[in-house]
Amino acid sequence: MVVNLSKHYSVLCDWINEIRDMEVQIDRMRFRRNLERIGEVAAYEISKNLSFNQVDTQTPLGISSSKSLQEQPILGTILRAGLPLHQGLLNYFDKADNAFISAYRKHHPDGSFEISLEYITCPDLENRVVILSDPMLATGASLVKTIQALREEGNPKEIHIVCVIACTVGIEYVHRNEPNVKIWCGAIDDELTAKGYIVPGLGDAGDLAYGIKQQS
Ligand code: URA
Repeated sequence: MVVNLSKHYSVLCDWINEIRDMEVQIDRMRFRRNLERIGEVAAYEISKNLSFNQVDTQTPLGISSSKSLQEQPILGTILRAGLPLHQGLLNYFDKADNAFISAYRKHHPDGSFEISLEYITCPDLENRVVILSDPMLATGASLVKTIQALREEGNPKEIHIVCVIACTVGIEYVHRNEPNVKIWCGAIDDELTAKGYIVPGLGDAGDLAYGIKQQS
């Protein structure tokens, strides 16, 4: 299942336009904050699909009957580009446990690359709801590799992926390998370059958020 969060126009479209816009994206703080705001919207939308318990709350004047989130999800993100989006999710799921994964593109001299996954830290995932964030769903290779690594830490009952821009081939790749994950994205673009960049996309999300890295 894929949910496109900008299917119905909202203020979210303005934030996505800003992170794509070359003149605006040079403001790193604004870029990170927009990713964070998109994470907040995704958290709110995902929360509508989670399980709730009946609760009674004592107010100064009486008892209010309502519902409360049954359990906090585990929020996982892929370093480093995922950090602002992760923070947005954490702003809303403020009692969540967290997982961090380092996965990066190790480039070969011929221009091809492989995903190198070197570090993972997370709580027991058995029977938990996991929300994994990565701003750009390009080939889908790093997300699939990450999910496979996470499954060694327990079998989650649900996995949600949150991304800001997804491309169609990446969505298909993830669903071929992980048919039960739900993908929540801010926008869907059609093109992926041979070097694995989404078009029109926005460029390199990690570099825009944190500065240009040396190629590895
Ligand atoms: N990662 C990025 O930061 N940008 C892309 O276009 C693809 C992957």
